[in-house]
Amino acid sequence: MLDLKIEGATVIDGTGVTGGRADVGIRGDAIAAVGDLSRESAASTLRAAGRVVAPGFIDMHSHSDWRLWENRRAESKIRQGVTTEVVGNCGFSPAPVSDKFLDDLRGFALYLPKGMDFAWRSVGDYLRAFDQEGTALNVVQLVGHGTLRIAAMGFARRAPEAAELTRMQRLLADAMEDGAWGLSTGLIYAPGSYATTEEIVELARVASRHRGFYASHIRGEGATLLDAVREAIHVGREADLPVQVSHVKAAGRPNWGRVADALALIDAARGEGLDVMADVYPYTASSTTVRTLLPDWALEGGIEAMQQRLGDPEARARIRAELMAPVTGQGVLDRIGWENIMIAFCARRKDAEGRRLSEIGAARGMDPLDAALELIADEAGKAYMILFQLDEKDLRRALAHPAVMIGSDGSSLAPYGPLAAGKPHPRSYGTFPRVLGEYTREQRVLGLPEAIHKMTGLPARRLGLRDRGIVRPGAKADLVVFDPKRIADRATYEEPHRYPVGIEHVVVNGRFVVKDGQHTGSLPGKLLTPP
Ligand code: ZN
Ligand code: CU
Repeated sequence: MLDLKIEGATVIDGTGVTGGRADVGIRGDAIAAVGDLSRESAASTLRAAGRVVAPGFIDMHSHSDWRLWENRRAESKIRQGVTTEVVGNCGFSPAPVSDKFLDDLRGFALYLPKGMDFAWRSVGDYLRAFDQEGTALNVVQLVGHGTLRIAAMGFARRAPEAAELTRMQRLLADAMEDGAWGLSTGLIYAPGSYATTEEIVELARVASRHRGFYASHIRGEGATLLDAVREAIHVGREADLPVQVSHVKAAGRPNWGRVADALALIDAARGEGLDVMADVYPYTASSTTVRTLLPDWALEGGIEAMQQRLGDPEARARIRAELMAPVTGQGVLDRIGWENIMIAFCARRKDAEGRRLSEIGAARGMDPLDAALELIADEAGKAYMILFQLDEKDLRRALAHPAVMIGSDGSSLAPYGPLAAGKPHPRSYGTFPRVLGEYTREQRVLGLPEAIHKMTGLPARRLGLRDRGIVRPGAKADLVVFDPKRIADRATYEEPHRYPVGIEHVVVNGRFVVKDGQHTGSLPGKLLTPP
């Protein structure tokens, strides 16, 4: 007797092979049988003719650790069919925490939900606190290098002393023993950007010893893209661990086309036997905090020190001069016009949301650069922006590459309450259906089994997950049922808080979280621990 039978759909199993018509039987939290199950009885049956059944999607690059805390229902992700999120990316994670540098961590945090009080110290303590209330989807936690560095040495802009490095290594080793999956870096973000390659290698060795992987927001995604990819590969080679290049892109018009070169570097490394892969989101705009526009020395000493510099005419003139230089080392402002930067979210200056920096400057009778600096200061560095600076052809090339999987770089949001604030990047709502609708059905950049593989089997391989990302007997019952003719994203830059269409049912660990397009309120997700 089955608990649930999904009848008559096309099963695309996540391995990349073409699907066929089959029934899927579920018992408890696992898939019990796949095939002709017409003779099997089940407590409930879902008729799904004309639909696709696929493994639940794995979001390889997410920042939901800051959001799931108050959005246990994981609304904007679960409705895309995401059943597992990899969080703690780009160097940011909510743990470990030290007493000494707690305020620095608060300033560093991307977003602080109610109740995120940093009562924990170790990653293990954090995970236990997070796990107490349950979530709609499964979570895979990485340890952020920025967070680690802050715990050991705050926003100090120098190499760590021996004792500080040892402390970071100890904290990371503890985290790995307590269920973290690897190390992430954000090498354009202070204080992660203050680290030398050698520091990253020393930490990656610890992750390697615990069979973790290294995910990197690399040191430059514009003019310095290729050197940055080489650095990530070097870390993988030296520390002997798998490398995940996060959200591969070439930012700024002069750099368009270079995604092909970045992918060629990855291919060459793979040819040498190194395990290097990448992820991508299906949009031509990126998004990050507005303070990322600043040269990284402006954050030395932390957010308060940054605020003081923004108020000091001399420091401000220096910041200005560096931002006016044609190419910044960080590449964020690599010849992108102010009209291509839209403010996505502000806690205080609500008037700025959804508007371009060029407009905001004009409205305030200011140079756009000064308007940006004013905004960073007013928002204490927490404002977000969207940068329209990527090439559609680069994007298609990345999507089609066999070592590239899908990662949203977004968070679990919701179109109600505090999570509906501002005009965040639509990737938080639209990534997976956009790949399946726009880039698979409409543009045919990918075949459907291949697209699904990039959201299921491929990320599962990266994670070493054997029992998820695949539809087969014995695997965990994380499943999506969608209409391949109708699936589409609806979130736009102007109206981002919109769920996609065509995703009808989402099952996590054998239980419906989305049924007939509605959230059931069920929280069957698990905090996953490495194999
Ligand atoms: Zn990033
Ligand atoms: Cu990220």
